[in-house]
Amino acid sequence: MIICSVSENKDLEKRVSITPEIAKKYINLGFEIQLSENYGKHLGFEKSEYIKLGVKFVSDDKKLIESADIIIQMGLLDEDKISILKSNQTYIGILNPNENKIKLEELARKKINLFSLELLPRITRAQSMDVLSSQANLAGYKAVVESFSTFEKAIPMMMTAAGTIPAAKVLVVGAGVAGLQAIATAKRMGAIVFATDVRIASKEQVESLGGKFLTVDEAENLETEGGYAKEASEEFKKKQEELLSETLKKIDIVICTALIPGKKAPLIIKEKMLKNIKPGSVIYDLAASQGGNVAFTEVDKIIEKDGVKIMGERNILNKLPASSSSLYSKNVFNFVSNLYDKESKKININLEDEIIAKTIIK
Ligand code: NAI
Repeated sequence: MIICSVSENKDLEKRVSITPEIAKKYINLGFEIQLSENYGKHLGFEKSEYIKLGVKFVSDDKKLIESADIIIQMGLLDEDKISILKSNQTYIGILNPNENKIKLEELARKKINLFSLELLPRITRAQSMDVLSSQANLAGYKAVVESFSTFEKAIPMMMTAAGTIPAAKVLVVGAGVAGLQAIATAKRMGAIVFATDVRIASKEQVESLGGKFLTVDEAENLETEGGYAKEASEEFKKKQEELLSETLKKIDIVICTALIPGKKAPLIIKEKMLKNIKPGSVIYDLAASQGGNVAFTEVDKIIEKDGVKIMGERNILNKLPASSSSLYSKNVFNFVSNLYDKESKKININLEDEIIAKTIIK
C-alpha cells in the first residue's frame, strides 16, 4: 500500500504529517511512502534523509495523489487537489467536520474513506493518537512563551540590592490540555498562577500543578460524559464574570483557552472587564481562531486597549512546527497502525472499533 503526503501551503501551515522518523516506521510496517518534492525541507528534513530510508519523491502532486492508497495531511487540501480523490482511497487529517460538513459529505458519497482525527474518543487506547492533546499541549506552552516575551516586566520574583521585583500573576481561563500546560509553563518560569474552568474535575489538576483554582460559587459541574465542557447558563456566566472581574485587578497576564466543541468559543473577558486590568498587562487568546474568549481579539494581530495588549494567532503551532510535526506524525502513525491489518496487508475499516467508528465521516 502506498501512503502519500503532499506539501502544505506553507503560508498557512508549516507543520508536516510524515517526519523521517515516522516514514521509517511506515516502511518497516510494509508501506511505501511517497512525498512531494521539497517536503519538510523548511523544517530541516532533507530529501537525502528521506531517500536513505526508502521514501520516493514525486514532483507532480496530482500524480502523487492519484497513485496513493492513503493520503495523510494536516487538514483538507485545496479543491484542485481534493477533486482528484477517488473511491476506496483513504484520507486522514484534522478535517474540521463542523466547518467542512458539506464538502466532507460530498467526498464520503464518492466512497472515499475520510478520517477526521479531532473526532477521536478520549479513551485510554486512543491516547497515543490524540492529535488534539498533542497539539493543544504545545499551544499552551507557546502561548505562555509568547505572552511573557511581550510583557515588559520580569516574570519571577527577584530580590536584588536595587530592590525587589514582584512575581508576575497569571490567570489561565480554561484548564483543559492547553490550559494545564500553560499553568505548568508559567509556574516553571516563576509566575503566581490562578486558573478557572467550568469542569470541577479540573480543580484538582490545577492544584496539583501549583495553581490556585477559582471556583464559581454554587456552580454545577458543566462536564459532558466525553469529558468536554457544556455551554454555561446565563446565571453561571454572570457569576463567572463577577469572579473574574475582581481577579483581573491583580493579574498581569491572561491566557485564554476556553472552547466548547463544535461551537463558537465563549466570550469570557468582556469589554467592561478589560477596564479592570492594569495597563501593561498582556492577554494571549488561544481561542482566537474560534471567535476568541476576549472582546477585541483579532487573529494574527496585537490589539492595544487602554494599555492592555490582546494577542492571538490563527495557528500558533506554525511557531513550533518541528515539535508539533513530530507529535502529529506519531499520532497519525498510531492511528494508521490500528487501521492496518498486518496479515492481509490492507486497511480494515472495522466499525466495531470505537476509534474507527467515531473518526470516519459518513
Ligand atoms: P477544550 O480544548 O475543548 O477546552 C478547553 C477548556 O476550556 C476545557 O477544560 C473546558 O472545560 C474549558 N471551558 C469551556 N468553556 C469554558 C468557560 N465558559 N469558562 C471556563 N472554562 C471553559 O478541552 P480539552 O483541552 O481538549 O480537554 C477536554 C477534556 O478532555 C478534559 O476533561 C481533559 O481532561 C480530557 N482529555 C482526556 C484525554 C484522555 O485520553 N482520556 C486526553 C485529553 C484530554
